[in-house]
Amino acid sequence: MSGLDEQNQNNYHPIYFRTIRPNTRVPFDILIKSDNEFEVCFEKGSIIDKEDFKKLADNNSIAHIKNSDRNIYRSYILQKISKILNDPYIENQKRAEIAHMLLTNTAEHLFEKPNEKYVNLFISTVSAVADFILNDEESIYNLIRQTNFEFKISIHSVNVGIFATGLAKISLHLDNQYNMRNIATGFFLHDIGKCKVPYSILAKPTALAYNEWKILKNHPIEGHRILNEFNVLTDEISTIVMQHHERRNGKGYPMELRGNKIHIYSKICSIADAFEALTTGRPYKKSISSFEAIKTIKKEMMDEFDPKLLKQFILLFSKAQMLVKN
Ligand SMILES: [Fe+2]
Repeated sequence: MSGLDEQNQNNYHPIYFRTIRPNTRVPFDILIKSDNEFEVCFEKGSIIDKEDFKKLADNNSIAHIKNSDRNIYRSYILQKISKILNDPYIENQKRAEIAHMLLTNTAEHLFEKPNEKYVNLFISTVSAVADFILNDEESIYNLIRQTNFEFKISIHSVNVGIFATGLAKISLHLDNQYNMRNIATGFFLHDIGKCKVPYSILAKPTALAYNEWKILKNHPIEGHRILNEFNVLTDEISTIVMQHHERRNGKGYPMELRGNKIHIYSKICSIADAFEALTTGRPYKKSISSFEAIKTIKKEMMDEFDPKLLKQFILLFSKAQMLVKN
């Protein structure tokens, strides 16, 4: 690649053409590369009719946008997320990639700056993804394959959200879309209270002092308070946020609930949460493989979790071939 080509390439960003919705106004230029040149094929503000859309989509054209329009493009597909995730012409794996990118992006904004706008944006993204998981058999497995294990609260929230929604789908046999949206939202927001815990406590490489431990243990209550303030609490979200650290043996927190006093949604979330914590490195501990994590939970934590749910969780991961991959 010549210097000029490289410069050109760096100025543009490839997009998947089918994410553009026909008959909608496109708020950025769309360019097509031919003979190493980028040509504007649709100007910002134009509406792509169905015929033009079909021609380009059928050709599998690699469309590009200007790098400076990337945020506008992201907002555009965020607005169209339900349509994109329901589009049978886009292969499921591609839709899962898009869903994962939007979840990660909206979670990052929310955890950096928790406010009403970002929480509502995140909730509408999660709701669309919950429908995607509920409506299509393959979705959850493709989403699980997208997860990456990095120590960051936003990434942890997305990972736990995906694992727990998958487990809820196979163990609760839900057929009510709205219920699933609320339950999934609870999973994805379970740790929102941690944005009030200082990073020095979250990442402390040595044992926490009594006061630090007290602050950390308060994050379910803090999360509930934040979501109440934003006026987005439902019964499902409230239960999951408050109870995700309760344990079957009564040794959890903040209320030290025992056995069936813990709601099944929270039991689901706690398995996904513990698994994610083991498979993701922390500044104070190394990550272990999915296989090792399941083994550790079975060997050392069986009295903390619901055995039937744990069995189904293992099934979910075997099917996603995560255990094989690791
Ligand atoms: Fe937590």
